[in-house]
Amino acid sequence: MNERATLITNEIVEAIRGVLRKNNVTFGEYRAGFMHLVKTQQAGEIPLLTDVFFNSTIVDIENESRKGTRADLQGPYFVPDAPVITDGQIAVEDEHKDKPVMVLRGKVTDLEGNPVAGAEIDIWHSTPDGRYSGIEKHGNMDKKFYRGRVMTSEDGSYEARSITPVPYQIPNKGPTGHLLENIMGGHSWRPAHVHYWVKAPGLRDVINQAYFEGDEWIGNDSCNGGLDEMVIPEVIENGERIMEVDFKLEPAVAKSLQAAE
Ligand code: DHB
Ligand code: FE
Repeated sequence: MNERATLITNEIVEAIRGVLRKNNVTFGEYRAGFMHLVKTQQAGEIPLLTDVFFNSTIVDIENESRKGTRADLQGPYFVPDAPVITDGQIAVEDEHKDKPVMVLRGKVTDLEGNPVAGAEIDIWHSTPDGRYSGIEKHGNMDKKFYRGRVMTSEDGSYEARSITPVPYQIPNKGPTGHLLENIMGGHSWRPAHVHYWVKAPGLRDVINQAYFEGDEWIGNDSCNGGLDEMVIPEVIENGERIMEVDFKLEPAVAKSLQAAE
């Protein structure tokens, strides 16, 4: 028996019962709600629906205990075992080869500012038309595209080039988009972003996203992501958008504080 899972499950059930009672929810409304969940499951959007509403809360909880770079949403489209980038170039499909280039660069250090060599930075971002590679629902594009792992050098620095993502609508043709846009009268936009997952031995890993200064959806993100310090000022060098992002990693968290299976 998992006591923590039992405690949290019981409290979730109690919280939901409280909402049902407070609003005198009818049997018809209850059925409509669960049919929405059935459709969400059939559309393969359980990860999306869950992350839209709750990933940001988990991030807030995590950030209370962080001393280094704060965390942001992972989102539903991380794929393990992305290609290792050795030539500094993230693969781009032919149809997007001419899109504006971004250069992702920066440094990984520990809390004292010492460079961290050999840190692995897993990077992923969407296409200009809002698809992620390696995702069945996004057309199953080869996962070599728009993803990769770069390693930091002796001085803790990294660099990778790709094309620049644009503001992005989370998949909005299915039940999650219908809920956000039609039922709740909101929208499904996120600011353009680049995902990072930074890992180094003995240090606490951090999952993060960088955003582009001036993006109209910053502060109005359908997924409630976004850290002020990760809105990257606009720097252009030779026509290329420079995304300079440094990461500060704190010591690894004791095993006893890590998530229970
Ligand atoms: C979410 C986050 C993303 O980065 C994304 O591309 C899609 C969805 C989310 O948190 O739901
Ligand atoms: Fe994303």
